Amino acid sequence: MTRLLFCLAVALLTGHFTNGQVAESVYNYDETKVGTYKLPNPLINASGKAIKTRAEWATRRIELLQLFAENVYGKTPKQTVRLRFQTTSVDSSALNGLAIRKLISIKFVDYPKLPSIDVLLYVPKGRKAAPVFLGLNFCGNHCVTTEADLPLSTRWMMSGTGDVSVNNKATEKARGMQERRWPISMILKRGYAVATAYYGDLEPDYPEGWHAGIRSVLGDTTRADNWGAIGAWAWGMSRILDYLQTDPAIDAKRVISIGHSRIGKAALWAGAQDDRFAAVIANESGEGGAALSRRWYGETVERLNISFPHWFCERYKTYNKRVDDLPVDQHELLALVAPRPLYVASADGDQWSDPKGEFLGAAYTTPVYALYGKVGLGTTTFPAVNQPIGQTVRYHDRTGKHDVMNYDWEQYLRFADELVR
Ligand code: GCU
Repeated sequence: MTRLLFCLAVALLTGHFTNGQVAESVYNYDETKVGTYKLPNPLINASGKAIKTRAEWATRRIELLQLFAENVYGKTPKQTVRLRFQTTSVDSSALNGLAIRKLISIKFVDYPKLPSIDVLLYVPKGRKAAPVFLGLNFCGNHCVTTEADLPLSTRWMMSGTGDVSVNNKATEKARGMQERRWPISMILKRGYAVATAYYGDLEPDYPEGWHAGIRSVLGDTTRADNWGAIGAWAWGMSRILDYLQTDPAIDAKRVISIGHSRIGKAALWAGAQDDRFAAVIANESGEGGAALSRRWYGETVERLNISFPHWFCERYKTYNKRVDDLPVDQHELLALVAPRPLYVASADGDQWSDPKGEFLGAAYTTPVYALYGKVGLGTTTFPAVNQPIGQTVRYHDRTGKHDVMNYDWEQYLRFADELVR
């Protein structure tokens, strides 16, 4: 009931009845009204000193990570959590013989009541130590594939149309529901492994969901800088990476953090904090992801915090009506990925995510990549649709709606071929 009321309140407040459908009139979609804003400079530290060397950047990087933790995502607890990796199933000839498919449960030894992170891993057959795309999924592992023998997740599921969940439990109708977003065979044929897990294994996505996730045992809910759900999802990606480091079928030096939308925000925060990720891909991650917060276009910090009060830290809400006071902006989050390869992608039918703001976020990482002698995006001119651009930092604005399409994956595979292998 609480959940239902929450959804209704969010829908009324945001005019946001299904993902991506927003009452456009309420928000700014007019470029001429964006106005002016002054972005913080990633290469000037909190005491006003200019950063000129990689060594100075290493210290500034820590400062920026702290600022993002204190003001945006909340502090990720530092303690090491004892994990147990349990392989529950191996199919040595999955997807018509293309892959070895494994299911691995990551269990929390000291918190036996917590749900495990249930990882679905496909490794291309005949390839030693495969690079891997690691991304969380929105609706359970059974959603990313039509394979009938994959168990349905028993975790809390968001309500969806067409009985894909009943009383917040997945039904058979959800099987393969997001298969199109995960072209697993195409990825495997290119020599990459795919690892995924349901984001709700870490925390079910509603304001009180933290009671059933990792934040119920780690962190301090009384603090304004306690981690939010995005922090928990990002943390979970690092725990999956802990597992991948133990699997000889995987090249753990080539793990790519990828995510779409809210999970794209988490993929960025994971890649920023954990430099074991070799590259980061944020697909339509929008506000609180790759898009500049100070740009008044599409979703705003205030809207984000009202619609999803559990995603960020409490202090982030204090910036709702004064984003210009944020000590950071999202180009600095993206800069934390440097010198590693970064891909930011938008869709022209997803103005809610502010494609131009995502593009500028990527463009303004340039001076940080330059410290490493790398060309980041290499331009500040917004490209035409379906024109991928950039070097170590890449960007495209696909035609179509808020989604993950084969077009996006084709670019990500090329990017990985060129920069991660
Ligand atoms: C909403 C939200 C976005 C988010 C998206 C998603 O549209 O406002 O910030 O990225 O949901 O996760 O699909």
